[in-house]
Amino acid sequence: MTHEPAVPRTTAGPLFADTGLKLGVFGLNVSSAGAVTAAAERHEIDWDQNVRVVQQAENAGFEAVIPFSRWRGFEGRTNPWGQSFDPYTWSAALAALTSRITLFATSHCLTVSPVMAAKQIATIDAISGGRIGLNVVAGWFAKELAMFGVETLGHDDRYSYSEEWLEIVLRLWADGDDFDYEGHWLSVAAGYSRPGPVQHPHPPIMNAAFSDRGHRFAARYADLSFVSAFDASDAAAKVRNIREMATGFGREHSVWVAASVVCADTEQEAHDLVRRWSGIDADEVAVRNAIDWTMGGTRMPPEQHRQLAGAVASTMAGYPLIGTAERISEALAQLSAAGIDGVALTMMNYEAGVPRFIDEVLPILEKNGVRRPSVTQSPQGNIAPEGRS
Ligand SMILES: Cc1cc2nc3c(=O)[nH]c(=O)nc-3n(C[C@H](O)[C@H](O)[C@H](O)COP(=O)(O)O)c2cc1C
Repeated sequence: MTHEPAVPRTTAGPLFADTGLKLGVFGLNVSSAGAVTAAAERHEIDWDQNVRVVQQAENAGFEAVIPFSRWRGFEGRTNPWGQSFDPYTWSAALAALTSRITLFATSHCLTVSPVMAAKQIATIDAISGGRIGLNVVAGWFAKELAMFGVETLGHDDRYSYSEEWLEIVLRLWADGDDFDYEGHWLSVAAGYSRPGPVQHPHPPIMNAAFSDRGHRFAARYADLSFVSAFDASDAAAKVRNIREMATGFGREHSVWVAASVVCADTEQEAHDLVRRWSGIDADEVAVRNAIDWTMGGTRMPPEQHRQLAGAVASTMAGYPLIGTAERISEALAQLSAAGIDGVALTMMNYEAGVPRFIDEVLPILEKNGVRRPSVTQSPQGNIAPEGRS
């Protein structure tokens, strides 16, 4: 139980509305985001295509677009995740081309000054009319962090660094006097950043992590957690655990899950696709690198490594939404019943997958009441900041 004042929580806007399961497009800004495979239909990034997909998602009522933060790929034959657009500038441009959907900037604390991050997010908040969120990630890929000279920070130290980073961002956004900050890792002299963000008390903060230390960080500082889960009961356990931690910090908390959609006309066809992507189409070196470089694969028993390889090659180990539209809708209903507030969707090919999801899965979700069209959306933007008109 903490005795410090709780970090103010953002709850305004469609992300937090009582409209059932929220939907987000995840990873659109990174090549091969949905699977580490050499399959010909894998995702390639292209700005016009990114804009098209985001606008389709917005028109269908999706609540969010969440980019990956990525600086290099997993090499092998196809260097998956090797092409990526920077999340801050990407979201800023999309903000000007959309009007309702919430955009996130995914940010490694270790790669950007909190003063810069606070300023950039406040600027995108102004451009978007209050539609930007900050997805804070501690980082896990040593080879890319090494480019910033920060590879030596251990796992838990990365989170204590992230806490200081976020405390500074929150103070810069708050409407107070200049402040000095002296932490273990970071210091700021006469901290100042104006204008503050449009959203009140601040833009939504999300954190994506697997570990208990990460979830503790999220429960204390973030408005939303973004977790991974194997099945609905695993998801329910994570929801319970994070919400309990948040209660200990005097806060409420939303929990989203990263999920991977493989939609086909029949169950057989969907599972055949997964088998092909992780079989004859696999980029085995890249799969091994992805597991060893970001998931602690070098310390894994060989059987666990082998099983994970199949999932990484076909769905990037996201929550499996594999099968017909009906089957996928059922799986999403189960997640919602498990207490999950939103799903962030990756796909093998977003250009084909997002319209298909909108045409086939979304109507079933709405018919079954798993999600309801948001009532707070408006043509000017989706947030009515407290105390402002
Ligand atoms: C759903 C999800 C999404 C993530 N997205 C990113 C990302 O875009 N970029 C990144 O570097 N790390 C990402 N991560 C990794 C986390 O930020 C974190 O660094 C990593 O999981 C290791 O920390 P942990 O042991 O606390 O999980 C993601 C993790 C999860 C669970």
